[in-house]
Amino acid sequence: MSPIVKPMPGRSQEGLASPSGGGEAHEVASRGAIVKLDHVYKSFGANQVLKGVSFEVAKGEMIAIIGASGSGKSTALRCIDRLEVIDKGTIEVCGIRVDSPGVDLKQLRLEVGIVFQSYNLFPHLTVQENIMLALRHVKKQSRGEAADVAIRVLDQVGLKAKADAYPEQLSGGQQQRVAIARSLAMSPKVMLFDEVTSALDPQLTGEVLRVMEDLAAGGMTMLLVTHEMAFAKRVADRIIYMHQGTVWETGPGEMLDAPKTQELRAFLNNGL
Ligand SMILES: Nc1ncnc2c1ncn2[C@@H]1O[C@H](COP(=O)(O)OP(=O)(O)OP(=O)(O)O)[C@@H](O)[C@H]1O
Ligand SMILES: [Mg+2]
Repeated sequence: MSPIVKPMPGRSQEGLASPSGGGEAHEVASRGAIVKLDHVYKSFGANQVLKGVSFEVAKGEMIAIIGASGSGKSTALRCIDRLEVIDKGTIEVCGIRVDSPGVDLKQLRLEVGIVFQSYNLFPHLTVQENIMLALRHVKKQSRGEAADVAIRVLDQVGLKAKADAYPEQLSGGQQQRVAIARSLAMSPKVMLFDEVTSALDPQLTGEVLRVMEDLAAGGMTMLLVTHEMAFAKRVADRIIYMHQGTVWETGPGEMLDAPKTQELRAFLNNGL
C-alpha cells in the first residue's frame, strides 16, 4: 500500500530532539512513514481482536479509521502507543519498534500524542496548569517556558482567554480542546484521536472538529477513529474501514460514495 502524501506547509513538528533518534529514525522518515503496522495480531484471551492489520501513516497525512463497534479500532490505536502489547507482527513509530520488549516508552510517548473521548483534566488545576504539568515533569521545562508553551497551544485551539479557568467552568467541547492542546504542547510527531467528539452535542462537536481540521491543514500527522463520516470524507487523506479485526477497505474519502464491499455498504447504511 503506498500512502498518499499531501503537500506539507513549512511548519515543523521537530521540536523534540530525540536522544536515541539515530539513523533508523531518519531512514523511516525519509520513506515518509511515521506509523507502520505490519500484520499485527492481538487477542484478549480467546477473543482475537486484530487479525493481521497492516497500514501506514505517512508524514503529514490524516487518516480516519471507521468501522462497527468491536471491529478493533481503539485496540489498533492503543497498540500504536503500546497501551496494549501485540501478539504478532510489527509496529514502527518514528523509527521506534513499538513491539520490541525493550522499547523506550518515554521516548515513544514523546513522539505520540493520544486523545480519548474522556478529557481527564485535573479539576483542581487551571487550564494552563493542566497543560504545563507534563511540560514541567516530563520535558523538565522551567515554569516560564512551560507557561509560554501552554499559552501558545491554547491560542492554537482558540482558548487563550480560558487559561486561568478551571475545567468545570468550561463546556465539554472546550475541555476536549484543552485536552488536545495538552497533547499538542508536547510537540508530538503524530497524534491519535479516539472518538474525541462522541460525548459532545453537535455544536460542540463542530468546534472540536474544526480544531482537528486546522491541525491537519498545518501538516500534523494524524490518525483518528471517528463516527463523523462527513468530516472523515472531507478532511481525511485516506479512510481505513475496519471490519472484524482487519483492514477491509481503504481509499480516499470518495470510497464512502462507492463502497467496494457489501460490508462497508451495510456499515454506512446502518450508521447514517
Ligand atoms: N482490555 C481489554 N480486555 C478484554 N477485551 C478487550 C479489551 N479491549 C478491547 N477488548 C475487546 O476487543 C474488541 C474490540 O474492541 P475495540 O475497543 O478495539 O473496538 P472498537 O472498534 O474501538 O469499538 P467501538 O466503536 O465500540 O469503540 C471488543 O470485543 C472488546 O470487548
Ligand atoms: Mg473504540
